[in-house]
Amino acid sequence: MTVVATRTALGIALGALIAAAAVPGVARAAEDEVTFTRDIAPIFQRSCQACHRPGSIAPMSLMTYEESRPWARSIKDRVAARKMPPWFIDRTVGIQHFKDDRSLSDEEIAVISKWVDSGAPRGNPADLPPPVEFNDNLYEWTVADELGREPDLVVPIPEPFLVPGGSPNWWIELVSDTGLTEDRWVKALETKPSIEGFPVVHHASTSMFLPESPGERERFGEYALGKTADIHPDGTGRLMKARTQLLWNLHYSANPNGEDTYDRTSIALWFYPRGTVPQRHLSRQSVGSVTDLDLPPGESLVRTDGYTFLENNVRLSVFQPHLHNLGKRQCMEAIYRDGRVQTLSCADWDFGWHIAYNYADEAQPLLPKGTVLHIISWHDNSQGNRWAADPRNWVGWGNRSTDDMAFAHISWYELSDEEYQAELEARLAARRTDND
Ligand code: HEC
Repeated sequence: MTVVATRTALGIALGALIAAAAVPGVARAAEDEVTFTRDIAPIFQRSCQACHRPGSIAPMSLMTYEESRPWARSIKDRVAARKMPPWFIDRTVGIQHFKDDRSLSDEEIAVISKWVDSGAPRGNPADLPPPVEFNDNLYEWTVADELGREPDLVVPIPEPFLVPGGSPNWWIELVSDTGLTEDRWVKALETKPSIEGFPVVHHASTSMFLPESPGERERFGEYALGKTADIHPDGTGRLMKARTQLLWNLHYSANPNGEDTYDRTSIALWFYPRGTVPQRHLSRQSVGSVTDLDLPPGESLVRTDGYTFLENNVRLSVFQPHLHNLGKRQCMEAIYRDGRVQTLSCADWDFGWHIAYNYADEAQPLLPKGTVLHIISWHDNSQGNRWAADPRNWVGWGNRSTDDMAFAHISWYELSDEEYQAELEARLAARRTDND
């Protein structure tokens, strides 16, 4: 105990040495201790470094001990409050299996807290796991690697966008023409900032629409750091019609470094071969939208309920809450025809992050036709909400960030009655054990 109680790098190195010499009591103490090299680095590699590395979006790098140490307090605060990594799914209710889930387990949070509370020791350099290789070749499309071919079409924002040095957060909508002259089925898509733009692009999402009906938009893709590409499983795809235009919704981060930065985010598309129509047609929908929002001044917990009736059987793959500055939390539940109600997902909301929660394949809800999707949203128009522009004002529905919204973006594909039955039975069979 005495050796490790000094908590210095030397003490730990000594502790490790003595442990290696197998002095029983000391070996146990060294193992109890939480160190950066052995316990923290693997967590940072999996859950933090995609954003917290040089040239990326976060304000500081967490690649090395030297870089991480000064942030220890703040790290503990953020992870304990589950503000970092940004992933706000409620862990106590609803579906818990997702793709790209970078969130921390309760044990990992406990380990980080313990590390910080014990003086954030470095540990034995030999314990350090090999560094993670990030694809820093930002010119490359990651999908090109996986599909073995370059994109069929690349659509950039209309012109380079200037984010002046010192500018605050910035939300903007832009429209690009795809130039498509025929309908094509999309197999994969990837959105990416230009090289220079990388550190200032917080997120970029796109919707498709046709010039004659600009109001009818279909949510298409999004970029947020750490998640860049959608490769649709074989046999599934999304239809992009001839003459489609793309509406960009971009969030440029505050640019505190004083340098003017130009960005030209683009989206790359890989199509199915001409004439191949995938069996399943994925679509993105907004569900449960409430347009008569009524958020009185000073109210900290305003609940609204929106409903969407499912005319067909669907398999649902993505839940993405959509609220604005005053949003606090959203839940999605299924109300079945027999009156049963099931919570599918709940997530807290932070307007800084638009996260698409992709359900793991085996956890994607199968919903029979006649089900009602119920979207419950909570807003906070009080002083306690740091994003509230002025809580003395009433706020209603609208497009500006200072107006608000309440709906969920979801993705699904429809199933015939036979397909629905077959998928349901396959699900039940997979769940059955030998004991049943
Ligand atoms: C998806 C990208 C992303 C991931 C993953 C991520 N962060 Fe962050 N982090 C950010 C961004 C962007 C900010 C600055 C904006 C903000 O504070 O929300 C930030 C801010 C922070 C801050 C506050 C810094 C300050 O100014 O005080 C801490 C601490 C932090 N992150 C720790 C972590 C840790 C620890 C992890 C992993 C367990 C992690 N983050 C994972 C993007 C990320």
